[in-house]
Amino acid sequence: MDETRFDRILVTAALPYANGPIHIGHLAGAYLPADLYCRYQRLKGRDVLFICGSDELGVAILMRALEEGTTPQAIVDRYHPMIRDSFARFGMSFDYYGRTTSPVHFETSQDFFRWLDEKGVFKLKTEKQLYDPEAGIFLADRFVRGTCPICGYEDAYGDQCERCGSSLSPTDLINPRSVLSNATPELRETTHWYLPLGDFQPKLEAWIATHPEWKPNVLGQVRSWLQQGLRDRAVTRDIPWGVPVPEDVARRHGVPAEGKVLYVWFDAPIGYISATREWAQQQGDPEAWRRYWQDERTRLIHFIGKDNIVFHCLMFPAMLMAHGEFVLPDNVPANEFLNLEGHKLSTSRGWAVWLHEYLEEFPPDLLRYALATMLPETRDADFSWKEFQQRVNAELADILGNFVHRTLTFAQRFAEGRVPPLRNARPVDEEVLRELATFPERIGSAYEQFRFREAVQETMNLARLGNKYFNDTEPWHTRKTDPQACANTIHVSLQICASLSILMEPVLPFAAARLREMLRLEGVRPSTPDGEGALGWDDAARPLLPEGHEIGRPEILFTKIEDEVIERQIARLEARAQQAAAKTDGPPYAPLKPEIVYDDFDRLDLRVGRVEKAERVPKSKKLLRLEVDLGFEKRQILAGVAEQMAPEDLEGRRVVVVANLKPRKMMGLESQGMLLMAEDREGRLVPVTAESEPGAVVR
Ligand code: MF3
Ligand code: ZN
Repeated sequence: MDETRFDRILVTAALPYANGPIHIGHLAGAYLPADLYCRYQRLKGRDVLFICGSDELGVAILMRALEEGTTPQAIVDRYHPMIRDSFARFGMSFDYYGRTTSPVHFETSQDFFRWLDEKGVFKLKTEKQLYDPEAGIFLADRFVRGTCPICGYEDAYGDQCERCGSSLSPTDLINPRSVLSNATPELRETTHWYLPLGDFQPKLEAWIATHPEWKPNVLGQVRSWLQQGLRDRAVTRDIPWGVPVPEDVARRHGVPAEGKVLYVWFDAPIGYISATREWAQQQGDPEAWRRYWQDERTRLIHFIGKDNIVFHCLMFPAMLMAHGEFVLPDNVPANEFLNLEGHKLSTSRGWAVWLHEYLEEFPPDLLRYALATMLPETRDADFSWKEFQQRVNAELADILGNFVHRTLTFAQRFAEGRVPPLRNARPVDEEVLRELATFPERIGSAYEQFRFREAVQETMNLARLGNKYFNDTEPWHTRKTDPQACANTIHVSLQICASLSILMEPVLPFAAARLREMLRLEGVRPSTPDGEGALGWDDAARPLLPEGHEIGRPEILFTKIEDEVIERQIARLEARAQQAAAKTDGPPYAPLKPEIVYDDFDRLDLRVGRVEKAERVPKSKKLLRLEVDLGFEKRQILAGVAEQMAPEDLEGRRVVVVANLKPRKMMGLESQGMLLMAEDREGRLVPVTAESEPGAVVR
């Protein structure tokens, strides 16, 4: 951190929706990195405030309640404590964990809204929207279903057709019906407050330009939103679950407040502020929140997953700018997604590892460590149980645990459980102590730059160094030939253990505390809120244990995980997925299109083509560029399949090409035709292939 610019750090982790338990995808996206960062910064002695809470309002919670036939309050009352407790057991070191149904939050978000309204920031727009006359409420996007005007699918949502992927607006649907009552909705006029993001675009652009240091994946998304041009966003909704639009504000505009609430993406980020206020009240210093939100010497950092980027990098900053009294985020180190055993995480398909279930079987540190080595920092990453086992057994147990254990048992057996003096240090002893001194800085710099995988790897490298030193100096040998050399090995190894007990604290807080107990190393401040103690991060650069210091009894820090334990986890995961698949017998088949005559078909010229080359189109997530040999000529064809298949899946294959399709440009490249693909009900694509020669007519 740049201490000339900042006095304190305010860290937020995305408020999880209280409509389900936490899984490893959440942890890898936002929570673990945020916790690593805060724990490191606390050990550095910095003033850190770490804020989170449950996101309890809005349509996602309401839908969940309707699905379960209960109230949204019952949903959040079930999941909020469950999430809070599993976080605590995982070692999340929040200073405060709030919830957005709290009175302070209602007041804070209403005040914020009122302030923007009084400043004339919003635009009001009156539009016709679908209204359920039986339920007596306006229907948010997901509460309307009907026939997709594009593909004819009969169960399309108001905002999107799950069949063809088109994004829709509820009024586009043919034969719309209310999900709540099945009634045919009618159009009614309603007025909403809009945040004119477009007006903020120049200011946002100028501000983003001052942060070239942000992660490329974050800047990439932000630039693409800006390139498309920001559009006005409605910040109110007509649904019965949210922070009510303040009566006085509605009255001022002559709009009935009844049934109107703040949009969840308006109130939820304000939840960070509300939670900070509640923290301040709890401290007995109700104004203390201002230090963290309204003083320019605060560094605000939002930890989030990539699906939250637009809200934290553009929308919430625009709100903060519009308000005028708040600091803006200094960084938003968003992560990409974590997959599980090679497939996308999916809670509805039962493909997830739930934190509360994990904690019933394993210690939190093992998952913290394994996940930290696999964080999706620059691209999507994959969690597999086998790799989890590998990390635990080959690194935690065999390297870190082993080094600590051999050092301590040696000290117990051959140095009477005391730190022996270092005398006539050999070059190897001095060399290792010199190297040890470089670790806090090196690991710290990785933490500062949000490179958590690297930080954790470097931490493990210190244990590797310790092991190597122990092996190279062979104390089991020198014990008989040169007792002082043996004493020196024990001395230096114990010092490495002591430094490790500080440096491993962010990622392995439970094991680090146990290690300090074994070493009887006192005076180290824990990395938890208000942890007190004299020794911190930088002290790990020097020998911490005085000569003659008595150590405690060595214990095993990490036990290895047996194959069968891992196999049971994998089996459970697969059983879950099968259960889920059986419950919903899969998505529906695509409905048949209207009948055509032979001539309609005959207008297509389908040919066999050989894909000679396939490559990704730079800067495009979706497009592959193909060179296809049609026998009589070569074509460049762009296929929007890069998210579903790799270039290797197509290269060399004989595919079926629509050869007389009018060329069109995409990303500045001309596409001269189209490949036929079969798409199954899950949306998986397979190219249609033909074993004939290039140019052959398909009919
Ligand atoms: N609940 C949202 C999600 O899980 C995150 C909200 S972050 C906040 O995607 F800033 F709005 F609080
Ligand atoms: Zn459709």
